[in-house]
Parts: sequence; structure tokens; C-alpha cells
Amino acid sequence: MPSIHSFAQHLFYINVVYFNKLCVLTVQLAAFCQQVQVRVCANVRSEIKAIQILSVPIRVSLSRVASVRSLLRASNRLEEFVRDHQPDMLNRRFAQCYPPETPSLKLGRNSERLYNFMDAQYYGQISLGTPPQNFTVVFDTGSSDLWVPSSYCISEACAMHERFEAYKSSTFHHDGRRFGIHYGTGHMLGIMSREVLKIGSITVENQEFGESVFEPGFVFVMAKFDGVLGLGYPSLAEEVGNPVFDSMLNQKSVNQPVFSFYLSKSKLTGDHEGELLLGGIDETLFTGPINWNPVTVKNYWQIKMDGLEVQGASSFCPHGCQAIIDTGTSVITGPTADILTLQQLIGATPTSIGEYIIDCARIQSLPEVTIVLNKVEFVLTANSYVRKEDLGDTEICFSGFQAQEMPSLLGPMWILGDIFLSEYYSIYDRGQDRVGFAKARHTR
Ligand SMILES: *[C@@H]1O[C@H](CO)[C@@H](O)[C@H](O)[C@H]1NC(C)=O
Repeated sequence: MPSIHSFAQHLFYINVVYFNKLCVLTVQLAAFCQQVQVRVCANVRSEIKAIQILSVPIRVSLSRVASVRSLLRASNRLEEFVRDHQPDMLNRRFAQCYPPETPSLKLGRNSERLYNFMDAQYYGQISLGTPPQNFTVVFDTGSSDLWVPSSYCISEACAMHERFEAYKSSTFHHDGRRFGIHYGTGHMLGIMSREVLKIGSITVENQEFGESVFEPGFVFVMAKFDGVLGLGYPSLAEEVGNPVFDSMLNQKSVNQPVFSFYLSKSKLTGDHEGELLLGGIDETLFTGPINWNPVTVKNYWQIKMDGLEVQGASSFCPHGCQAIIDTGTSVITGPTADILTLQQLIGATPTSIGEYIIDCARIQSLPEVTIVLNKVEFVLTANSYVRKEDLGDTEICFSGFQAQEMPSLLGPMWILGDIFLSEYYSIYDRGQDRVGFAKARHTR
């Protein structure tokens, strides 16, 4: 089809030379214009549709607050805490020695999931029930259950947090099954229920969730969050039932089977601290291409990791290993031997309670750490892998790497937590079972 411009020129020529045919041409032009108009309208309509699709993702803003670890440290209780929790570790290790009906020691399928939210920092708000009862939760891609404290909970941790009051809700459904979730610091016990769940502007009907009646350990007392909302695959859930995002997919509350995380490290108040997008991505929050990685085991958001290299020095997992993308973990973890070597390469020295300290003055001279995923290099500078904590007037610097054994059938397992995810915007695609990363844009 000729452009309007050339058509007009053409028409002018014809007009002069074949004046008598003008009438016919005018009719043709009218038809042409109509056609163009129809096309423009269609374009505008599809653009409007595209805009609608783009704006469909539901934004859930996340706040970044002090972790339990830094709160404990600030109140001088970290050492005591670590010492007191040795028995928990022992319990966990010897859980098989207890009678199997001891519910508090029932080890779930994912009992080796050792992280315990001590370092979790990003929280957002949800509500349960009618009228809505608000809760602050960790949006955790490393688990699949949803739980909040119950009003029947007697643990100290529950007294410090919002508790779900079933009797105040007109949409509450009692389920009656018990659940137990194992955490690094002990077992959580509770009962299952169903409720109306609201996240951002999404309403999920009949969402199964856990009401905790016993919360172990001190972590949950100090925690700034009330509960956890898992975003992993259904097979990772300890409870029977649908994880929240599966309910959203089933109830068609999201247009695309995708959610994404933007995490910021900015300390400036008023800055965008983080965002979870349900049903899509926000292209203004990252730059460059999205690099996709197929999920290798649909349980965690697990992918293959090609390697981890320290500038000019050794490389780890040369034959490839596995990595879990986990918003509920703040650090990067790997096999003990590898992490030990890595700590030495970045000059981190151990403390009496097993943390690794770095001299803050040396940060600028530390090597870059490069993580290779699907042949693409993701670089972390020391500024991103060193965690700084203010303790009174002094600043302490910690290594962002931690040892954690997580054997898997596909090889040694690493966890890429917030240290990685605040540098790289992450996209979780349940439609194509893949995880995407793009350089996060931190300008705000
Ligand atoms: C729950 O949160 C919403 C949104 O932040 C707020 O408008 C509402 O007042 C809160 N409800 C309660 C009971 O605190």
C-alpha cells in the first residue's frame, strides 16, 4: 500500500492531467482514507490493549528493614543466640531418633532447607479475611507455603506480631489439618485454614494457609515480619494445597504466569526499596537484555550454574553445578570447601561465631566475583558482595558468602540470594519454567 504522501502526489499529477477522472479518484481516495483510518484505529486499539497488558502486573512494594541478625548484634545478643541454638542444630541432626509421632520433630521433605530468615530484609504487606487483617510477610521464592501467626499461638514470637483472628472473619474456612515447617532454628507447628487473600489489588479466594500456633526460637521474636509467603513450585510446599501463585494462576488473577523482583540496596529514605510484580515485569526497573535460564528441577527455582570465578584467581564448580534463586536468603551460599577458599580469596577472616569479617578499608581493592549462568557473566563487585552493618559509631563489613551444604542429585548446590538479586532484576516464569535476569536499574 502506498503511503499517504506518495498517494497524494500521485493524485495531484493525475488531477492535473486527467481532470475528468477526478471524481473516480476522489472516491478511491475516500476508500483509501477509510482504510487508513481503520488501520490507525486498529493500531490505537491494540496499543491501548498493549498498554493495558503492560499495566496489568500488580505492584507490591517491599520495604527493606534491619535483619534479625543485625538486631541481635546491635543488642549484643548475637553470640548468646548462636550458642543457645546449638541444641536446635542437634535436634535437627538427630530428629530420626525421636518417635515419629512427635509432631514438633516431623522433618518435612525440605528439612535440609537450613536458612532461617535471620538475614531476611525485604518485606511486603498482604491481608487475609473479611474484613481484611493485615500482615507483613517475606515474599520467599525459596519456599512454597503461606503462614501467619494464629491468635491461638502462645509463643513469645506470636505475641510480638500480628495474629490472625479467625472468629473475626466472615470468609474463614477451617481445614483442621496440622502442619509443621522445619526451620534452621526449630519446628513451627500450626493448623491449616482457608481464607480470602489480598495482595496489592489481587484477591485470591479460598487460599490455603497455615496459622502457626507454635513458633520456635528467637528469630521469629525479633523478626520484623509476621509470616512468610512462599513463591516456589507446589512440590516444595510442606502443606497439602496450592501455593499462592498457583491459586492466582488457577483463578486467572494474573494475565501472565510470571512474577518478578526488584530489590534495592539504597539506604536513602524515600527510595524505592523493592518491588514484587505479580503477572509481569517492569521494564523501567532494569536495563539491557533478559538472560533466561531453564528451571532444572521444578521445586525450588533451581537452575544450572556454569561457574563462579574470582578475578584472576580460581574458579569454582568448573563442571557446572546447581543454583537456587532465593529471595528469602540474603547471602550467597555454596559448598563448605568452596566457600572457605572463596573467603580466603577475598580476605575474609572468621569470627568466634562463624561469621566472616572483611576490613572495610579494603573494599575498593577486593576482586570481582563473576557468576556464569547460561554462558552469561554476572559480575559482583565487592560493593555488592560485602554487607555493611552499622554498630554504634562503627561500621562492620561482612562477607556476603556463607557455607551451606545442600546436596542435590544434579551436583553441588549454591543459593543466590539478595546480594545477587539486588544487582540483577529477576523474573520467574511458570509458563515456560525459566528464570530471567537483567541488570537492575538503581537510579532512583
Ligand atoms: C491494612 O492495610 C491497608 C493498606 O495499607 C490500610 O488501608 C488498612 O487501614 C489496614 N488495615 C488495618 C486494620 O490496619
